[in-house]
Amino acid sequence: MKTVTVSAPGKLMIMGEHAVVYDRPCIVTAVGSRIKLTIEELSVPEFMLDAADVNVVEYKKSLSEIGAGYIPKGAMFVEVALRNVMQSAGVDNLHGNGIKMITHTDFSSQYGFGSSSAATVCVIKGLSEYMGLSLGNREIFNLAYKTVLDVQGKGSGFDIAAAVYGGTLYFMTGGKVIEPIQIDELPIIVGYSGVKADTVTLINMLAYKAKSDPSSIDGSYNEIARLVDSAKSTIVEKKWQLVGSLMNQNQELLKSLGVSTDKLDAMIEAARDAGAYGAKLSGAGGGDCMIAVAPRDKTQAVKDAITAAGGLIIEVESNVGGVKVEAY
Ligand code: PMV
Repeated sequence: MKTVTVSAPGKLMIMGEHAVVYDRPCIVTAVGSRIKLTIEELSVPEFMLDAADVNVVEYKKSLSEIGAGYIPKGAMFVEVALRNVMQSAGVDNLHGNGIKMITHTDFSSQYGFGSSSAATVCVIKGLSEYMGLSLGNREIFNLAYKTVLDVQGKGSGFDIAAAVYGGTLYFMTGGKVIEPIQIDELPIIVGYSGVKADTVTLINMLAYKAKSDPSSIDGSYNEIARLVDSAKSTIVEKKWQLVGSLMNQNQELLKSLGVSTDKLDAMIEAARDAGAYGAKLSGAGGGDCMIAVAPRDKTQAVKDAITAAGGLIIEVESNVGGVKVEAY
């Protein structure tokens, strides 16, 4: 039986969220919590999906109906990615056979580590291997980004880039620039706020604000872009104190945009009070995670302070490798 297993990393936004949706840069790192996808051949022309993490169990559909009709929320990215690969490869069936996809996640989809984007990238890489399409990273990025836009209409694609390329990236909207930042490690502490954020709702909220006050929002995005550009070289030079200060300035701008929450603010403040060089929310805001950079001898104190503020410390490796084949 033909089978292939691939894996892709999750992501953490370091700086530049929201501004990156509108032609500005961000910095993102790939995290060592990976999503795994196995594709198996079926003898009937059907698509089957088991994705327990998003409550999809034994979902089934005829291959001729892929992308059409009812699609459960948890199957959306995977099924649309499958449709996009089939369309771009110009096939409407898989030589009479079907496929089963099974996903396993190292992390909860609640954390905001980009499990949908990582799953989308896995589907495209997995199908490329399975169907012998030999897609390169740029083609995988383009098809995955199209999938995200098809499903949620909005997004910069930064999470897709992290899943495809891995490492730590300087990234510009839609992948106009995808530049690896050459570092061995990124000493970040991650705290989960316990609240699941909805990215599209927050993007829409800012789009609405920008309608009534375009110059102020645009000004904030320009400021954020300036901070991201400074952080890029500062990270390479390992000037963590300076990186922390840039993160703090980024957080103030996000706060003034209205995307932080009391809980995130409390965790961020606690981290700073315990000796972190800097801290900020990571991602769309409204919940999910915050990140902090701290001197090594203050790491434990910062973690304890975030915990005392009600956060959950998530031990996760950053700057890890991108999508890869695990087994044939
Ligand atoms: O909510 P997350 O972690 O997927 O991050 C969203 C970051 C945004 O800039 C708000 C959206 C995007 O696609 O860049």
